[in-house]
Order: sequence, then structure tokens, then C-alpha cells
Amino acid sequence: MKVRDAVVLVTGANRGLGRAWARLLLEAGARKVYAAARDPRSIDLPDVIPLELDITRPEQVRRAAAECGDLTLLVNNAGIVRGGHLFDDEAFERARQELDTNLFGTLAMCRAFAPILGANGGGAIVNVLSVLSWISIPGGATYSMSKAATWSMTNGVRIALKPQGTQVVGVHVAFMDTDMTAGVDAPKASPLDVVIQTVAALEAGQEEVLADGLTREVKRGLSLERGVYLDAAG
Ligand SMILES: NC(=O)c1ccc[n+]([C@@H]2O[C@H](COP(=O)([O-])OP(=O)(O)OC[C@H]3O[C@@H](n4cnc5c(N)ncnc54)[C@H](OP(=O)(O)O)[C@@H]3O)[C@@H](O)[C@H]2O)c1
Repeated sequence: MKVRDAVVLVTGANRGLGRAWARLLLEAGARKVYAAARDPRSIDLPDVIPLELDITRPEQVRRAAAECGDLTLLVNNAGIVRGGHLFDDEAFERARQELDTNLFGTLAMCRAFAPILGANGGGAIVNVLSVLSWISIPGGATYSMSKAATWSMTNGVRIALKPQGTQVVGVHVAFMDTDMTAGVDAPKASPLDVVIQTVAALEAGQEEVLADGLTREVKRGLSLERGVYLDAAG
């Protein structure tokens, strides 16, 4: 799909990757950018339409869909990481929170906006995933679970919406330079570069973005005889 003249909603548009999305889409000629955030007062970009939206709150998701009937591109960017190991006492609670946001919140957005995108000619959905959709790291195992499930969900949504002509793009990235990785000492991709790559994929009709070298290496490693997911990473 073409980004010029698109009507876009970005979740979590107040900071990090979501803010980069909203900024770049405006620069790329999007007709309208709904910048959604749990607290719309935290949106500091001019020329966007701030929208209150917590993707885990069904009434807010419904209201967003009712207010954005002209949407042609949905960017499901919002996500959380709680950190921690699978055998920590808090693991279930952390996993539930991550699944609520990363999986069920994103799915709720896909479900709410699919009919709108269909009615507007098909359009596109971008789901922000991770290299951790494919491998697990000890300190982020519940987050990895949530992103693996969201990858599978994204594949299901892609197949389900193909008949109505909706392009569904999964974006896999390792570390990005945002608040989420403030405590991580590792090479990080710039959020803007990830957005630029994803816009290029959207416009080329592609369905997957592997945004950095580590992500591409891991993807290749999935099909090795000893798949990379069998050993501890990170
Ligand atoms: N940073 C990385 O290294 C990395 C790597 C791979 C994938 N990702 C993914 O990239 C996406 C963006 O992350 P980021 O790095 O930009 O993280 P970030 O700086 O922590 O920003 C997360 C954004 O998501 C929003 N959010 C969280 N829960 C929400 C909810 N229930 N409803 C609506 N918005 C919600 C946050 O809003 P508040 O300001 O209200 O908290 C914030 O705007 C996420 O899906 C993340 O999992 C990040």
C-alpha cells in the first residue's frame, strides 16, 4: 500500500517507536495520523490527532474504531516488557500482563479495525513483533512467549484478511534505542530506521520486515539442523 494519503492510527504514539511512526508518516504524506496513547496529553507531535487508547480496554478500542471509520493503515506498535524468568514467583502475573497487551490488545485492535480496513479498500496492518518471537532469553522469557504468540496471531490475521485485500506486515527487530531498552548495553537499531524499512516493505507489498543483522541471522538459524531456538541466547 502507498503511505501517501493514507489515514493511519498508531498505538503507543507518545514515545519510542510509535512516536517515530507518527512523525515519519506525517513527513511521508499521510493524509491523517491518529496518534493513540493511554494518556493523549503525552502526545507532543503537531499535526496529529491525539486519541485516548489503552488497547487492553475493550470500550476504548470500540470507541477508537467508531471515531476512525476512515482508517486505511493500522500500526499496532504498543507493547510492554515485564522481564523475568519463567520460574520466578511473579512469572504468571508478568506473563498475563504481557499477553494482555502484546497479544490480546493487538488482536482486539485487528478485530475492531478489520471491517473498517475492508470497507476502505483493504488497507494494511503492521504488527510490531520481535526477534524474541523466535528465541527465548532467560531474563525475558515471558515477553518472548507473548511475542511468539503475537507472531502466530499475526500469521492468522494475514490469512484471514487476505480475501478482503488487507496487507499484514510483521516487523521483527532485536534491540531498538527506546525507553524499553534503557538498561540494555548492546547495539541498538534506531526506531526511525525501523519505520523507514517498514514503510518500504508496505509500499513493496511485502509481509515481513527483518530490521537488523541479528534478526536476519536468527531467522536463518531457525531452519538449521540444530535450530537456534534450542540454546540459550543473550
Ligand atoms: N525497544 C526494543 O528493543 C524492542 C525490540 C523489539 C520489539 N519491540 C516492540 O516495539 C514496540 C514499541 O516499543 P518501544 O521500544 O517503543 O517501547 P517503549 O518506549 O516502552 O514504548 C511502549 C509504548 O507502548 C505503549 N503502551 C504500553 N501498553 C499500552 C497499552 N495497554 N495501550 C496502549 N499503549 C500502550 C506505551 O504507552 P505509555 O507511555 O502509556 O506507557 C508506549 O507508548 C513494542 O511492541 C515492543 O514490544 C521493542
